[in-house]
Amino acid sequence: MNVLVSGGAGYIGSHAVLRLVENGHQVLIVDNLSRGHREAAAVLESIAPGRVAFEDCDILETERLAGLMTSHRCDAVLHFAALAYVGESVEQPLRYYRNNTAGALSLIQAAEDAGVGRFVFSSTCATYGEPPVDQVPIAETCGQSPVNPYGWSKLMVERMLIDRAGQARAGGSPFAFAALRYFNVAGADPEGRLGEDHRPESHLLPICLEVASGKRESMTIFGDDYDTPDGTCIRDYVHVIDLVNAHLLVLEALEPGDQRFYNIGVGRGYSVLECIEACRRVTGHPIPVTMGARRPGDPPMLTANPDRIRRELGFEARYTNLDEIIETAWRWFQANPQGYGPEAGSGR
Ligand SMILES: NC(=O)c1ccc[n+]([C@@H]2O[C@H](COP(=O)([O-])OP(=O)(O)OC[C@H]3O[C@@H](n4cnc5c(N)ncnc54)[C@H](O)[C@@H]3O)[C@@H](O)[C@H]2O)c1
Repeated sequence: MNVLVSGGAGYIGSHAVLRLVENGHQVLIVDNLSRGHREAAAVLESIAPGRVAFEDCDILETERLAGLMTSHRCDAVLHFAALAYVGESVEQPLRYYRNNTAGALSLIQAAEDAGVGRFVFSSTCATYGEPPVDQVPIAETCGQSPVNPYGWSKLMVERMLIDRAGQARAGGSPFAFAALRYFNVAGADPEGRLGEDHRPESHLLPICLEVASGKRESMTIFGDDYDTPDGTCIRDYVHVIDLVNAHLLVLEALEPGDQRFYNIGVGRGYSVLECIEACRRVTGHPIPVTMGARRPGDPPMLTANPDRIRRELGFEARYTNLDEIIETAWRWFQANPQGYGPEAGSGR
């Protein structure tokens, strides 16, 4: 297949490109490098010369995107490009709706204009908001009620895709989509070719590794008085390789008319304290912590019920052990203490 990957210079998108080319597909990366790294795309170009192309392009550029999809004879779109900081989305909601919601609209429009019939969208467990305790682990049937603009900016895209699929069905044109609602994504390519380099970093595990390596002095735990066994929040960590494998399974299973929604998680959670302890164990370094106040909108426990994708597509996460997930991240981190380089990902 010829696949357009938006956000392919970012953390998850770059790992998806790697898996696509390893499976014999051709990839066109579209990324405006606002949060991603040209260096990540260059690694991919060197791994699969002639099978990965890169375009510095914003997903808001509808006509250009349609032209690229046509000239590259794209069969499918994997849409990762987005801004993804919850706090930033509260401070700059319109920027999130423009980039994530209007950006997705533009990409869906371009796919329609170019006759591309398969679309896989990076959605998020943030679309569930703060589900009632009796609904955790969360199934896809759980009500969606985001508690921040980031979650809403994604949920609106799910809605647009449903309506686009309805229109295609009524008009007899082939269109199929899947929205994958990721839980917490972690880890890196086990061969150390790609890794996680968000600037600034907001995810727990890479922050722990930054402290372990001495890049940060200490880290803050946001609340230890939650109704959980050790008082800290519990999250479901899925390895980025398992996540991109799920994308490949979904992409290959999509049939015209499909509308699929899948949670992507492991189905078991780890508390913040358990994560920090695991990072101490894997790295062999102390990780000093300070205790801070709760952050608004942090539910005590978010874990996935991953039964649907297991039942329908036979998906099983290979990495179910947190230490193994951290080991892959730590390997890349140690080999690349500056991430993709001091100049990389300065942001726009
Ligand atoms: N990392 C997680 O734990 C997690 C969890 C749930 C959902 N997600 C979703 O997965 C996707 C990928 O996340 P990530 O962690 O790889 O983020 P990332 O920031 O590493 O990658 C996003 C990429 O999209 C690009 N981009 C952003 N806006 C763009 C635009 N307008 N035009 C073109 N390119 C643009 C950025 O430059 C970057 O390369 C996002 O959609 C995110 O919302 C991530």
